[in-house]
Amino acid sequence: MNTTAGHHDRSPASAYAQAAEAAGRAPSIHNTQPWHWQVHPDRLDLYADTSRALPGIDPDERMLLVSCGAALHHAQVALMAQGHTVELRPLPDPAQPDHLATLVISGDAPVTAEAVRLMQALRLRHTDRRPTVDTPVTAEQVDELRRLAGEFDVHLHRLTPDQVSELAVAVSHAEEAAAAEPAWQAETARWVGPGRPPGTGVPPEVLPDKRPETDVGERDFGARGALAVGGGHDKFSTYVVLFGDGDDRAAWLRAGQTLSAVWLHATGQGLAVLPYSQVIEIDGTRAMVRRILSNLGYAYIVLRLGVADPDQPLPGHTPRLPFDATTTVDPD
Ligand SMILES: Cc1cc2nc3c(=O)[nH]c(=O)nc-3n(C[C@H](O)[C@H](O)[C@H](O)COP(=O)(O)O)c2cc1C
Repeated sequence: MNTTAGHHDRSPASAYAQAAEAAGRAPSIHNTQPWHWQVHPDRLDLYADTSRALPGIDPDERMLLVSCGAALHHAQVALMAQGHTVELRPLPDPAQPDHLATLVISGDAPVTAEAVRLMQALRLRHTDRRPTVDTPVTAEQVDELRRLAGEFDVHLHRLTPDQVSELAVAVSHAEEAAAAEPAWQAETARWVGPGRPPGTGVPPEVLPDKRPETDVGERDFGARGALAVGGGHDKFSTYVVLFGDGDDRAAWLRAGQTLSAVWLHATGQGLAVLPYSQVIEIDGTRAMVRRILSNLGYAYIVLRLGVADPDQPLPGHTPRLPFDATTTVDPD
């Protein structure tokens, strides 16, 4: 990796390819990795790959866009960690709604300590569904995450204890609604069950072997997990909502970038992160979350933050598609 500005032995195309590869580590709904990268000599294009969409549970492609936004931010981090400054053109072509973004290297810059830290966090980051221990997330930590979210014009609100109770009700409504829809369960089973497409999906090793004791019930993936979790009750978890002024593809993409920025920073701080998206996927419960926010904005995703029990086994990394399955390299 270059540590000085102004000199790069490698071509921009190889920097773009490396960024696309690093972006493959991004979190995504059901680990569908619904993105496709096109590497060009002068730019990196991000497309939605709707062959891995979830039309049942995510008909508006909200979570697909949030996932792609997270991959986009991962790619930006990887380019910055290679000593580049990057220009982002979101949704560059209205005629092609699946063309989500173009990244262009606009210059060289010294690699900052922050970029290196984010790159390390990108390799370590994972979803953590274990109950958290009795170490609270500090106000300063939440303030920093709020500041980071603000860089993307996204708000981060820490729920008060009363609001956490309201969230728990909304989440249990969402679970009931999902349980009543066999088509949604079948769709989830395709990404979580034994027949999940290779390199994708949620394997049993990252799902708790019993329902964790938690204030807000975790998503029921309908599959038996194999991750040993202790008996702790995560009373000290913090719940935050990412929300903003827009509720369209551009806003969801930005929400995904924000999710990545917040998650990578939290990882660097040793915090465990668990997204709750079912409550957002379903119209009625999304409206409940919006009411919890006093209708101040549109809710994009809920996150549980906490400190995971160091005595419990770490969930492993979920699989990823090979580079060639998500990236094409333009030979020109
Ligand atoms: C938009 C989005 C929504 C998600 N929603 C949930 C959720 O509701 N419940 C859950 O347990 N995990 C959720 N996840 C976590 C994914 O399952 C996880 O990112 C994926 O399986 C890859 O695993 P990793 O994050 O450990 O790399 C979500 C992730 C994203 C990006």
